[in-house]
Amino acid sequence: MVSMNFNDQHIVLLGGSSGLGLATAQAAAAAGARVTVVSSREARVDAALAQLPASADGRVADLTDEAAVRDLFVAVGPFDHLAFTAGEPLQLGMLAETDVAAARATLDLRVWGAYTAVRHAAPLIRDGGSITLTGGTAAVRPQAGWTVGALICGAMESLTRALAVELAPLRVNLVRPGVIRTDLWSAVPEPDRAALFAQVAAGLPAGRVGEAADVAAAFLYLMDNRFATASVVTVDGGTGVA
Ligand SMILES: NC(=O)c1ccc[n+]([C@@H]2O[C@H](COP(=O)([O-])OP(=O)(O)OC[C@H]3O[C@@H](n4cnc5c(N)ncnc54)[C@H](OP(=O)(O)O)[C@@H]3O)[C@@H](O)[C@H]2O)c1
Repeated sequence: MVSMNFNDQHIVLLGGSSGLGLATAQAAAAAGARVTVVSSREARVDAALAQLPASADGRVADLTDEAAVRDLFVAVGPFDHLAFTAGEPLQLGMLAETDVAAARATLDLRVWGAYTAVRHAAPLIRDGGSITLTGGTAAVRPQAGWTVGALICGAMESLTRALAVELAPLRVNLVRPGVIRTDLWSAVPEPDRAALFAQVAAGLPAGRVGEAADVAAAFLYLMDNRFATASVVTVDGGTGVA
């Protein structure tokens, strides 16, 4: 049995106040890490800290603002692992009905926010550390109406591989989640959300949608495995196989 030990390691989670980031922060803290959770709203950071050990700390930063990102990492200083899970509710829509300016704006946080964060964080990451970014199954199994999501997720996979080459020996990896039950889906009102999850679950070999803890395990694996770089780990319940 493999057990991960993150004692004496400091992990910074951008988007760590909710969903995949918070679950990863909780799993990392349980494995001994000191964690710093970052997101744009103070109330959400405070709520996350209430669910983490006292050793955790939180910071507020809008990751679409490069000056805020630079100031964030100056304040954080040297650390071991970075996870980028920040994201906004999904914008789904058919090409013909999608406003181009709005579609373009959705890349600000997930693509350019990640790019900016890596640019300012990489020099601070200690030997043996890593960066783990977030993509999504849309990169390889898109459905009609998912063009913007697929664009973002595909860009993140290419970015990951390019960064792994350019920043080596710093390791850069990506987690590719399927549909995971988090606040990301809160824009879909109940009971439509429950119906959506049930419909997705019925089409998956796993027979259920994912939980944030399922995906947190993949983040920790990629941080821990010193031979993992330019890797994409898919955690999607078998999307597209059935
Ligand atoms: N859940 C899924 O089914 C799924 C599937 C595939 C991919 N993904 C991707 O995985 C990532 C994490 O998703 P999730 O499900 O964990 O979503 P989530 O629960 O909604 O968490 C998103 C996080 O991003 C933060 N955030 C939003 N805007 C920000 C900004 N401008 N600056 C800094 N932080 C910001 C949020 O906190 P604040 O509101 O406080 O800023 C929150 O901590 C996203 O990129 C998402 O697209 C999710």
